[in-house]
Amino acid sequence: MKWSFLPPEDGDRRYLAVNADEAEPGTFKDRMLIDFDPHILLEGIAICMHACRIDTAYIYIRGEYHAQAKTLQRAVDEAYEYNVFGKDSFLGKINSLAPHCYIHRGAGAYVCGEETALLESLEGKRGWPRIKPPFPAIAGAFARPTIINNVETIAMVGPIVQHGPDWFKSMGTQRPEDAPPTVPASFGPKLFGVSGHVNRPGVYEDELGIKLSTLIETHCGGMRNGKKFKAAIPGGIAMGILGTDQYDAVLDFDVGKKYNCLGLGTAGVIVMDQDTDMVAVTRNIIRFLAHESCGQCTPCREGTTWMYKTLSRIEAGDGTSKDLDLLLELAGSMGAMPGTTICGLADGANWAVRTILNKFRPDFEARVRKHRYVSLSTAGVR
Ligand SMILES: Cc1cc2nc3c(=O)[nH]c(=O)nc-3n(C[C@H](O)[C@H](O)[C@H](O)COP(=O)(O)O)c2cc1C
Ligand code: SF4
Repeated sequence: MKWSFLPPEDGDRRYLAVNADEAEPGTFKDRMLIDFDPHILLEGIAICMHACRIDTAYIYIRGEYHAQAKTLQRAVDEAYEYNVFGKDSFLGKINSLAPHCYIHRGAGAYVCGEETALLESLEGKRGWPRIKPPFPAIAGAFARPTIINNVETIAMVGPIVQHGPDWFKSMGTQRPEDAPPTVPASFGPKLFGVSGHVNRPGVYEDELGIKLSTLIETHCGGMRNGKKFKAAIPGGIAMGILGTDQYDAVLDFDVGKKYNCLGLGTAGVIVMDQDTDMVAVTRNIIRFLAHESCGQCTPCREGTTWMYKTLSRIEAGDGTSKDLDLLLELAGSMGAMPGTTICGLADGANWAVRTILNKFRPDFEARVRKHRYVSLSTAGVR
């Protein structure tokens, strides 16, 4: 669908930018693909360039991925050697383009994974997300039409072309028949990167729609040290949390609506056991997001900073019950009104704080001093 947004050709350059920034905590699936099968990515890039008539591709790789950048460069060199890319490219002979593929290394900013910040960084500027529209398909890198896709997305192109759409659709979950159009189908395989309190953390490939409990028990050898499951983040810290009663959550693209979190995100599942301190978890998430906020938008810059201060106070035992409602109010102001911030980082902070606090309120209440104050949380503050 994204590829179809490109405008008709005008004879000038169009770009593909592959997002290998992968800075989301708990996420390491793209790294595995690059480590163990870089050519599956390059094959997808070549097919995408052919399909969309693109002659220049950039792979924007996370600055800390030193070894992966080397592996990828070796693979790109091999692809040139075998005329996948370059002036004698075999696809170029069909479509009269000379496709080129370059690796661009980031400098370590999380926000550069956001697609328009990535483009700014690629152009050599400070990695600040851009106001949209225009969307990258219309005006992306160097103000030219640009497709931006994640490593895993592009790596799946070759297998789909090879085995066909029916093969892809034979995996995953169907859209329920009576569901509104906003409910997506979740076809295909998925890489689930599991970390945290399980016996065998790692990246596991299975169908979309696998239950969280199956993922933990079948692939990961169960909870570590025989402890009980307490919570899991479905995919990256900015997605909110699955609570103790959501152990059997179905992990597909509808996970957000069904279980009151933001979504599946990167499918980098972080599992937490019964001993996990949810106040510390929340403070740590917000510490990260406050540090990585680029500061362009007031709700994000100020909101993450104030939430971090408030959570630090609660964790240190100096918080009051009023602070819990303050947190919900701050979180709500960051994501409740779409369009008040330029990118999704602020909304991620909102979902993280709001869902952890709402699903684990007793953990927070046990840490604060009682305050003579009427709680706002029950009055529907988002
Ligand atoms: C703060 C922030 C950080 C992001 N980081 C990444 C990232 O590291 N890798 C990534 O592929 N997408 C990241 N994204 C999502 C991208 O903006 C974009 O949606 C994605 O690369 C599109 O890939 P897809 O269409 O293949 O799913 C991030 C988004 C935000 C708001
Ligand atoms: S939401 Fe935050 S990270 Fe995103 S552009 Fe605004 S200030 Fe920067």
